[in-house]
Amino acid sequence: MSAIRIDGKGLAARLKAQVRAEAESMRRKPGLAVILVGEDPASRVYVTSKRRDCEECGFYSEEYALPAASAQKELLDLVAKLNGREDIDGILVQLPLPRGLDEREVLLAIDPGKDVDCFHPYNVGQLTIGTPVFQPCTPGGVMEMLREYGIDPAEKRCVVLGRSNIVGKPMALLLLHANGTVAVCHSKTPDLEELAASADILVSAVGRTGLVTADMVKEGAVVIDVAMNRNMEGKLCGDVCFEEVSQKASYITPVPGGVGPMTRAMLMKNTLAAAKLHQRIR
Ligand code: GUN
Repeated sequence: MSAIRIDGKGLAARLKAQVRAEAESMRRKPGLAVILVGEDPASRVYVTSKRRDCEECGFYSEEYALPAASAQKELLDLVAKLNGREDIDGILVQLPLPRGLDEREVLLAIDPGKDVDCFHPYNVGQLTIGTPVFQPCTPGGVMEMLREYGIDPAEKRCVVLGRSNIVGKPMALLLLHANGTVAVCHSKTPDLEELAASADILVSAVGRTGLVTADMVKEGAVVIDVAMNRNMEGKLCGDVCFEEVSQKASYITPVPGGVGPMTRAMLMKNTLAAAKLHQRIR
């Protein structure tokens, strides 16, 4: 049997249309500032897409491109200035930062009410205790996809491959809050293959092409591929061997067209949420 493909692209388009409709009814356009430091080509592509998403949603957006050799203080000063701007609701510093810059200090400097990535320790804390102000974009996008397809993590065994702050850890928390039973696997996990094969919901966020083969997937499992890798031919692909795993899974996300567009749509949703928060306060 062939798995149902989860259409992240279609769902993201519907989500952005809803965001746009809400944004149009606001007194002031939601505003997002995106900061890119250095010339990482992948980051450049992401930042350009975010600007396009803002246009689609009717948001105001600003983009700052700083040279890789920028001083920490320059970046902190820019964040401080944006924190104080009434027309900017969300601030996103594209990661990773070039070597020499202290990522932790920069994330800590962002006003938690403008932290639309949900990376500030305050927001991570709120997420951990189950009262999040913002949804972390990628894991939040995955949860939206599960909801859309009627997949309830309750009473399910969920296995997350990868323990990053951006995806693995917050993904595990969201699945746990949805009453899933969660295991997080990483490079030091013994029996990773066996654990993966026990999952009803398997989320892979490692960044290694060909990692998830059919023998690591239980018959009928839901397989979510968060990775964005390039294969030998330079083609975009995930961690999951899509063709063979499709023969075993019940649902599967493609790469591209799966989680990626949902991450971007969630950023728009968070920026709208931040704008609502600010317009009520100010
Ligand atoms: N780099 C890779 N993913 C992300 C993300 O979701 N947000 C930011 N700020 N940087 C990233």
